[in-house]
Amino acid sequence: MTSNILVTGATGKTGRKVVEGLLRRNQNVRLGTRRNNPAFDWDDPSSWPGALEGMDKVYIVYYPDLAVPGAYEAIQGLTEAAKQAGVKKAVLLSGKGEKEAERCEQVVVNSGLDYTLVRASWFNQNFSESFLMDPILAGHVALPMPEAEIPFVDTDDIAEVVVEALLDDQHNGKTYEVTGPRKLTFQDVVKEISQATGRKIHYQPVTMEEYSGMMKAAGLPSDYIWLFDYLFREVLGNPDNHTISKDVEKVLGREATDFSDYARRTASSGVWNQSIPQTI
Ligand SMILES: NC(=O)c1ccc[n+]([C@@H]2O[C@H](COP(=O)([O-])OP(=O)(O)OC[C@H]3O[C@@H](n4cnc5c(N)ncnc54)[C@H](OP(=O)(O)O)[C@@H]3O)[C@@H](O)[C@H]2O)c1
Repeated sequence: MTSNILVTGATGKTGRKVVEGLLRRNQNVRLGTRRNNPAFDWDDPSSWPGALEGMDKVYIVYYPDLAVPGAYEAIQGLTEAAKQAGVKKAVLLSGKGEKEAERCEQVVVNSGLDYTLVRASWFNQNFSESFLMDPILAGHVALPMPEAEIPFVDTDDIAEVVVEALLDDQHNGKTYEVTGPRKLTFQDVVKEISQATGRKIHYQPVTMEEYSGMMKAAGLPSDYIWLFDYLFREVLGNPDNHTISKDVEKVLGREATDFSDYARRTASSGVWNQSIPQTI
């Protein structure tokens, strides 16, 4: 059966792949981004009804993170607008080990919509499509929490789980914790990427205070620094958040992607061999 599905974050790390997966399954997809027409903008609630009009389902990716102030109200507003528009089902991307995100999950659970919650561990793709890319390119990765062992998850796996959740009612009412099959420290990650690229990359453990100071010195805004402080301390700093889950295998019938496969695949794409743009 064909559904009309709004994918928010449709140009982002998981949304882009969810769009591709849904199109391969012959679904009608609307891109929920600021540049689409109708546009979807988290910062402009008046854009939500137009983006939801005529949709049966929605994939919700809140940006930048469900932990930030205002996220709870936004998820409340969006799910209410979705119900009013006649949407039947929502799949929410959430963060594993984030208490604030769990409050937002409850909004979706109590919304009256059918739902699936997909709680993800930190993404592999943070090292190739996000804030950890530049340190990899620079060959010098200075990060706090050297002792944290993290079951990084591949966004290919998340997207496949989300597509299944959107298309198959057997996933209604379920919460899936999506992780990779193995825990890695930042030192392990750097070693894997060095091996895959053949480049020398150095990992330097720093304290949380030093890391915040580095972000400040780089001119990053205070809300960005607050979010990273939260994600490192609350999410990475708690070993209970790093249990390996078998939910990817449960939903997809195959093992979750190992970090070394991601590292090899990404190295062969050439993205880790670019030079960093220099400012003059
Ligand atoms: N990264 C991780 O390791 C991780 C782990 C667990 C959970 N998560 C969750 O994943 C979600 C996405 O995080 P991400 O860092 O991976 O980002 P991402 O999905 O790559 O984010 C970029 C997307 O967000 C859209 N976007 C940005 N600002 C927007 C706005 N004001 N209104 C509408 N769309 C907007 C962009 O669309 P435009 O084309 O309009 O710019 C783009 O499609 C967050 O809720 C986060 O908590 C992330």
